[in-house]
Amino acid sequence: MPKNDLLLRSLRKEPIERFPVWLMRQAGRYMPQYRELRNKVNNFLELCKNVDLAVEVSLLPLRLLSVDAIIIFSDILVPLEALGVKLEFVEGEGPKLYWSSELKDLKPYDPKENAYVFEIIRKVKEAQDEVPVIGFGGAPFTLASYLIEGGASRDFRKTKLFMWEKEKEFKKLMELLTETQITYLKEQINAGADVIQVFDSWANYLSVEDYEEYVFPFVNYLVSELKEFSDTPVIYFFRGSSAFIDAVADTRADCLSVDWSVDIPEAMKLYEKAFQGNLEPTVLYASEEVIKEKTLSLLKRIPEKTGYIFNLGHGLAPDMDMKKVKLLVNTVKSYQL
Ligand code: CP3
Repeated sequence: MPKNDLLLRSLRKEPIERFPVWLMRQAGRYMPQYRELRNKVNNFLELCKNVDLAVEVSLLPLRLLSVDAIIIFSDILVPLEALGVKLEFVEGEGPKLYWSSELKDLKPYDPKENAYVFEIIRKVKEAQDEVPVIGFGGAPFTLASYLIEGGASRDFRKTKLFMWEKEKEFKKLMELLTETQITYLKEQINAGADVIQVFDSWANYLSVEDYEEYVFPFVNYLVSELKEFSDTPVIYFFRGSSAFIDAVADTRADCLSVDWSVDIPEAMKLYEKAFQGNLEPTVLYASEEVIKEKTLSLLKRIPEKTGYIFNLGHGLAPDMDMKKVKLLVNTVKSYQL
């Protein structure tokens, strides 16, 4: 058990002294110390696979910001490489994937190909016993969209046309990705992850009807398989939160991590789940006064004294100011319940 288990207690809705805080993309380019470690290798993927460096990067936010959890340093896209798809991160352009769009060109998932991820989790656990360690993976739809688009997209047109025009194949792809993620995330739990977060970053591009038909059943199955496997808490992060929250409230995920389209204080009255989020990341570009005011006004409105984890509605950006990120974390930590 980590010395500071606020995150675990808040996820289980047990009494806590203050709300826990960590930030999505907390180890990233906004941090000079990250950029320094990143410069030791040729590209981002090499950093993900260099276990010792990735452990060091994972620990940076604990050492420099004193957050209440470590998320391991990796990327949601690495299991796709294990399916036989070429993956690269092009400087300034983001991820690129090269898939033929044929299911026969995907090989069966072998978790050994991601052994470095499980090793990073083991070593981060060994390196510190201060805070819980969060393992993570992409939700099937978000992974499918990267595969089909070949990278980032403005409108997800290829993904939608694939989904509507080749429905059977799309669902087969979703099944394959769901099984991959079940194996991958169970291995992360075996390696010692205290919490699992599943990222559905691009679901917000879909209609509610399509989300319920093509996305939710798969992520729901993924989460229930993880909950059958162990009692490790599962957090589901999904963009398009206000549109989908009614459907999502049925999952066995312990915690819903929502974007700023949801009013968390209201949602906590309606749904049993723990909640995580959801300050607009853009607030971090504002003055220190605005950052404090926006953060405190969210915290003050939380209607319960547990079952809440402070985070952003999406991740930190590379051009954010580390001083302001620290101020944000300290503001949450000094808020007394
Ligand atoms: O949160 C953390 O600190 C842990 C590490 C983490 C990264 N990616 C590191 C990273 C996590 C949890 C992710 C998840 C991830 N990756 C998501 C889901 C979360 C979200 O933001 O919605 C998605 C969609 C990806 C795919 C991906 N990887 C994108 C879109 C990018 C950005 C491309 C760019 O150059 O801007 C990446 C690369 C990436 N992943 C970086 C980091 C620190 C930056 C790469 C670099 O250092 O050059």
